[in-house]
Amino acid sequence: MIVTIDGPSGVGKSTVTKELAARLGFEYLNTGAMYRAVALAVQRAGIRFNDEAAVTAALSGVHVEMPPGCVLLNGEHVAHLIRTPELSRGASEVGVHGAVRQMLAAAQRTAATGRDMICDGRDQGSFVFPLAECKFFLTADARVRAERRAAELAAAGQQVSVEDVMRDQDDRDRRDAARALAPMAAASDAVILDTTHLTSKEVIERLENVVRDLRACPRRR
Ligand code: DC
Repeated sequence: MIVTIDGPSGVGKSTVTKELAARLGFEYLNTGAMYRAVALAVQRAGIRFNDEAAVTAALSGVHVEMPPGCVLLNGEHVAHLIRTPELSRGASEVGVHGAVRQMLAAAQRTAATGRDMICDGRDQGSFVFPLAECKFFLTADARVRAERRAAELAAAGQQVSVEDVMRDQDDRDRRDAARALAPMAAASDAVILDTTHLTSKEVIERLENVVRDLRACPRRR
């Protein structure tokens, strides 16, 4: 069974995805990390993130794999290198290019084939897995998302103002929703959940109930 969880930056998808996967005994795929790994490869090659021709040409030397709990770029563990503000922006910028999206969408479909997997990102339900059995799209007020993210960064020892987080978040959301191929969007059959006033535990419980109901009584397609 494939479960997709999409939504904008800072809405809490990765926390919810990990915990929901643990509760259901599913694997999970954090597709944002794949875009971040491509951005790291592009940065290392000295290519500008928005240079579509150069990024596309470089892709033949970029291989991203996501074994459980790891992000491998050409076999190197890079999970600890990709959570910087520059690579957040870079992931969003390289994600505009069609060749990057096609390459990563193919890798995501291969990773999920024959598995019980929760895939989180921006386009998982709308583009990568149009036939996923269960789709969610999470939203939350932009300021609340920025406040949550700033608190997470502070807990990790990085002091960033809510205003700065919000500026970066707005830029990324606008770019992610406006690109030509597979823009961030809720699939027409996604369950949309506004998490503004919910704790992550409450979000996980609601999603878990929907998945369990669907497993007991699958939708007809
Ligand atoms: O989920 P994240 O913040 O790690 O994602 C970083 C960027 O990667 C995001 O701003 C846009 C891009 N991305 C994408 O285009 N499609 C996805 N399925 C996941 C991420």
